[in-house]
Amino acid sequence: MNARFPNDFTLGVATSSHQIEGAIHEDGRGESIWERFANTPGKIADQSSGDIACDHYHRYREDVALMRELGVDSYRFSIAWSRVIPDGDGPVNEAGLAFYDRLVDTLLEAGIAPAVTLYHWDLPQALEDRGGWRVRSTVDAFARYTEVVARRLGDRVKRWITHNEIWCIATLGYEQGEHAPGARDPAAAIAVRHHLLLSHGLAVPIIRAHSPGAEVGITHNLQPVMPASPSVADYDLARRIDGAFNRWLMDPLYGRGYPEDIVRDHIASGHLPADGRQPWVLPGDLDIIATPIDFLGLNYYSRVVARDDRASENLPRQIPVAPPDRCTDMGWEVYPPGLLLLLRRVMQTWGPKKILITECGAAYADPPDASGRVADSRRLDFLRDHLAICLLARGEGIPVDGFYAWSLLDNFEWAFGYEKRFGIVWVDYATQARIIKDSGLWYGALTKTRALPKDAVEAVAEMTRSLL
Ligand code: FCB
Repeated sequence: MNARFPNDFTLGVATSSHQIEGAIHEDGRGESIWERFANTPGKIADQSSGDIACDHYHRYREDVALMRELGVDSYRFSIAWSRVIPDGDGPVNEAGLAFYDRLVDTLLEAGIAPAVTLYHWDLPQALEDRGGWRVRSTVDAFARYTEVVARRLGDRVKRWITHNEIWCIATLGYEQGEHAPGARDPAAAIAVRHHLLLSHGLAVPIIRAHSPGAEVGITHNLQPVMPASPSVADYDLARRIDGAFNRWLMDPLYGRGYPEDIVRDHIASGHLPADGRQPWVLPGDLDIIATPIDFLGLNYYSRVVARDDRASENLPRQIPVAPPDRCTDMGWEVYPPGLLLLLRRVMQTWGPKKILITECGAAYADPPDASGRVADSRRLDFLRDHLAICLLARGEGIPVDGFYAWSLLDNFEWAFGYEKRFGIVWVDYATQARIIKDSGLWYGALTKTRALPKDAVEAVAEMTRSLL
């Protein structure tokens, strides 16, 4: 077993604009749906908001210095659309672009390759006021925003991600109301998914035109889904969850259109008309969505076990399958083999030419001890085991070419506020001091040796044999 990552395998870290930047009123930035949502009482668990977050907007040099110390190959961050075009489709704000310009230059000086996500959930509020992702004009606005950013950064940024997790944007934001903009409209969420996919497809050639030699992809939070039992109800729930997370977003991306069984489900629930037609899908859209991409980004945290629990009030629902000591602070089961299952499935079904794990990580609250050390051994184990899965997958010929740890910093974890800490670097929100946790020190050593201990890889290989 080769336990070494080749030199062209990316060992990176990831963040997103709204979760770390703060400085929401600075240098002409416009309002985004996330500060509107977070500042609405009752939406965020700890009543916090991303208004200050990690103050990265002012401390980006310090944060790049930390990454340099860790020796990471690449930094995945996102652009706040409302910094660049404050009302979404009006005048361009030079000061906003200049911030990302400085960030990119600082990264390159530190020898770190920037990987830019164009949309990581912070839609300009002015666009939401005009319908947000429910309406096609937002697709056009995204194409223009993409062009503005790609023109400015395309000479130096060579890895681009159009959208982060369409499932979350549409389902949590427009169907279940748990994320901004807080809508609960399942029918509209179907249009939202289409508009996001379409805007992705439109953005791909725009980026290529302004960023010669760049790689362009999209990031999904696909899930390995397994039924809890052989019952018909559990199998059918697994099919529906697989349809919602995986096939609805991947089939059109790979030229197969929307999956028919899920269209039938939407008809049955009254969210699509009886003929299954989606009025927002115009001729030519599916070809645009299927524009070939250079890589598929995957964010992996856990698996989904489907049990159609007729006794519960929210039907159908998934169940927690692991005891608390095998779950992170999010209540998500730690299940590294699920990543291998997912990778195999993705290769067999859609066959992307390249895969990047654009997020993977764990929430654990371990605080600094009296000496200032953060001994987060569970996060270290989590990262090591999922990295080992990447090596096993490569051994099977699956083209996994990179891994971005989520996250560089503890940050604003959306509806959970600051209660959930994913960072490999601790953030003291009162002082904004940063402390590299044990997991970060370990990751920093890994970027130098580029090798995992053989016994760690063997232990994970054993796990995949016994659990799958
Ligand atoms: C993903 C998001 C990311 C972060 C992690 C924990 O769904 O892309 O911003 O919140 O989950």
